[in-house]
Amino acid sequence: KRRPIAQSIENLDELLSLEKGRMSRDVFWDKDIYEQEIERIFARCWLFVAHESQIPKAGDYVTTYMGEDNVLIVRQKDGSIKGFLNTCPHRGNKVCFADLGNARQFVCNYHGWAFGIDGGLKGMTASETYEAAGLDKSEHGLHPVAHIDSYRGLIFATLDPDAPSLADYLGDMRYYLDAIFDMDEGGTEFIGGCVKSVIQCNWKYASENFVGDILHALWTHDSGAKAMVGGPVAEVHKTPEQSYHVNFNGHGWEFNQDIVGNCATLGEKELLKYLYVLQPKVAERLGEVRSKMIGAISSCTLFPNTSFLPGQNTFRTWHPRGPGQIELHTWTFVNKKAPQEIKDMWRKGTMMTFSPSGVFEMDDGENWEYSTRSNAGFVTRQQDLYLGLGQDTRVEGTDLPGNVFQGQINEANQRAFYQRWLDLMKADSWKTVPQRDVPKMKEGV
Ligand code: FES
Ligand code: FE
Repeated sequence: KRRPIAQSIENLDELLSLEKGRMSRDVFWDKDIYEQEIERIFARCWLFVAHESQIPKAGDYVTTYMGEDNVLIVRQKDGSIKGFLNTCPHRGNKVCFADLGNARQFVCNYHGWAFGIDGGLKGMTASETYEAAGLDKSEHGLHPVAHIDSYRGLIFATLDPDAPSLADYLGDMRYYLDAIFDMDEGGTEFIGGCVKSVIQCNWKYASENFVGDILHALWTHDSGAKAMVGGPVAEVHKTPEQSYHVNFNGHGWEFNQDIVGNCATLGEKELLKYLYVLQPKVAERLGEVRSKMIGAISSCTLFPNTSFLPGQNTFRTWHPRGPGQIELHTWTFVNKKAPQEIKDMWRKGTMMTFSPSGVFEMDDGENWEYSTRSNAGFVTRQQDLYLGLGQDTRVEGTDLPGNVFQGQINEANQRAFYQRWLDLMKADSWKTVPQRDVPKMKEGV
């Protein structure tokens, strides 16, 4: 049956039939939908902007994107962090061209307006002329982001003044984030630089892959895994009783409780040993359950566009560039207190697997590009896609917070991701975004 096209934006509800495990391809192709995503998702949600370790000192800054808005994130003299649109309020030129660095002020290339690290306009070329014109400098600083906050070293910002707190936004996902970003005293840091690449795909193909698609790894990454680690990807479908999809407000985490996941450590025996030694300490800090997550084959997406692989330690943001392209930024994160040789193993491992020349990145990128490109077809676009795995796998009463689904071969997290996407796309403001049902956490977890 053909779907009427070019009306998708007025009929958002018709795009998803999640109870039937089906969705429309317009979600990945329609330009009006993309514009609405930029407004209602990227200019509204909390987005990852930097890791605290990138900007330890006053004046340290990074530039990045929130949707298509370029932003400047700067450490202040009092240790706090501020964020601004990276655009001059005079004629709009970019005020900072570097990816990261340290500055005492940001001076616009065009007419020389100079801004302090607090975003305030401090002076400019021929300042007396502006004074004569009555310009009030206090009204022409860099435009600040609405809110900025951090969790376990991860800095997030939102452009929406009415957004919930970061703690509420992450909600139950904090339990899982702690297992990775608080597994060791001292937390984590980013090492090496940021690796950037462009993939010709819709941003959601990347986000939904990392929200919980171990299924593709068994097939897509089979040859890469054999070449890289000397064996196939662990057959997690054979042990559903020890693996899960968990989600909360569109964020999703998939994991099994098997620390010896070979892909997670790329077969590096020293890395495995490090994790084994760490495991009882994690059990002490965070409990038995989370101690089994630290090196397991797992992946996570924080809605909408931040993902990472625990164990394999690649961290990434998928920045949208129109409906058919992303700019991918990736880093390697490590435990700050890990020995240098362990940090080096992780960095090399992520470069060999999840960098533009990494075997798994190439596997994934090609799949997402063809998945995106197919939707250009007029008739193709009217054929729904399937995401119905694991409809009846929800489990209640576990020790795990969030919505919990049994079995890693599942599409529960994808459905939760798209449900959240739809809720945000339909809502006029945060006030009307529904809070979806999440089972109560057990006492003492
Ligand atoms: Fe920045 Fe004119 S555009 S000083
Ligand atoms: Fe993959």
